[in-house]
Amino acid sequence: MENRVIIGGQWGDEGKGKIVDALSQDVDWVLRYQGGANAGHTIHIGPDKHVLHLIPSGILHKGVRCLLGGGMVIDPWSLRDEIMALEQKGHKVRDRLHVSATAALLMPYHMRLDELRESRLKRKSIGTTGRGIGPAYLDKIQRTGLRMGDLLLPTENLERKVIEKILSANEVLSEFYDAEPLPARVLAEELVVLAQFVAPMVVNPYDALRKVREGTESALFEGAQGTMLDIDHGTFPYVTSSNSTIGGALTGTGLPPRSLGEINGIFKAYCTRVGNGPFPSELLGEAGDALREAGGEYGATTGRARRCGWFDMVAGRYAVDINGMTGVIITKLDVLDDLSTIQVATSYELDGKTITSYPVLSEAIPRCRPNFTEFAGWKKPTSDCRRLTDLPAAARKYLEFLEKELGTLIVGVSVGRDREQMIWTETGVTT
Ligand code: GDP
Ligand code: IMO
Ligand code: MG
Repeated sequence: MENRVIIGGQWGDEGKGKIVDALSQDVDWVLRYQGGANAGHTIHIGPDKHVLHLIPSGILHKGVRCLLGGGMVIDPWSLRDEIMALEQKGHKVRDRLHVSATAALLMPYHMRLDELRESRLKRKSIGTTGRGIGPAYLDKIQRTGLRMGDLLLPTENLERKVIEKILSANEVLSEFYDAEPLPARVLAEELVVLAQFVAPMVVNPYDALRKVREGTESALFEGAQGTMLDIDHGTFPYVTSSNSTIGGALTGTGLPPRSLGEINGIFKAYCTRVGNGPFPSELLGEAGDALREAGGEYGATTGRARRCGWFDMVAGRYAVDINGMTGVIITKLDVLDDLSTIQVATSYELDGKTITSYPVLSEAIPRCRPNFTEFAGWKKPTSDCRRLTDLPAAARKYLEFLEKELGTLIVGVSVGRDREQMIWTETGVTT
């Protein structure tokens, strides 16, 4: 099987987990490369529902090895809980799960700082998932944070190093935020115990991925978040703190560009966003509520109601271009089954001009007003369709439009949350 990168094309929650699971059958490796437990990737297999935050979505396939890549920020407490939850359901995890020694180690003080920073920002808060992501990446970038490889240190050294970090975080907590310090010794002792649990999984990614680099083992790269939440290319400052776009797949695994293979963007047939920040095609009021209910749009990590809107083609084309997508997969087409009409934002009005190119400036995006193109709905169920020819004519017309405007082939269409509810279309949807 050829290597493939799965990247969110919108603001996250596009259904990446479902698609990664559906594509994992024949791969050797599934690699997460950025983000942390802010991700919530949902997989339904028959009556079983799994929500994965740190562990790659390939883990439910027995022969697949999974890596938490060096670009991630990993909370070992969450990691242990996630592993235990899967093992309690009968999935053997620890012999196939590997953790890069170079990944950043996310500590409880990162979570506390995330919370405090958000509450200080008040109305201007980002609406983070509260998982400590920003503060953990900050600690990495300013070269002060711990790494997963530190869990391999002799106990005494680890304990000393961790206490030192907690004491220095406590200074920030008490002096800058007037908040309670964290119990350094207790947390250090907990981490020492966790280290014994995690250490056997910690690997040197350069060695672990040697065969992927040489081309004799295959890899599926699992992105978290989405292009519009990327720290550099998204709707800054309302973004996450990592590169969820294609560059993250390289820096977050240490693999070279030739290892990437196909680059597939995942797009919902409409749009959602959770958290604050601009969302030009957002539907407010009843129409948005109806889409939220039809799509079950509640956050997999925080349970927050997701904001809903129409497909944004201006942002969509930008995502295809920024990532060099070689194909896209449209998910949740079935959610639109009952609608009489469907809209797509095809351009924006900005300062009296009609624009079709994404304007990038933080100051400009909130002022963009979308222009919509309307399509007839199909008013028929699509969740049992497995071939393009099974789809109602109006649904195909909608997909053909998306394919043409995105400027790249639609290689898959998801029509339900289960693994099998897929239409694969190597040659696109346009006849
Ligand atoms: P991710 O973060 O990109 O993996 O997406 P999430 O798991 O956060 O959110 C996607 C939600 O949509 C999950 O509840 C999935 O089970 C569900 N889902 C994925 N694909 C489809 C689809 O084609 N149709 C429907 N109805 N639900 C889907
Ligand atoms: P998956 O992988 C949707 C959003 C948060 C917030 C912003 C910053 O499931 O698609 P952070 O906690 O990262 O500092 O929050 O990013 N966000 C997501 N939105 N899906 C996600 O992941 C997200 N991860 C972070 O809501 O607006
Ligand atoms: Mg999600």
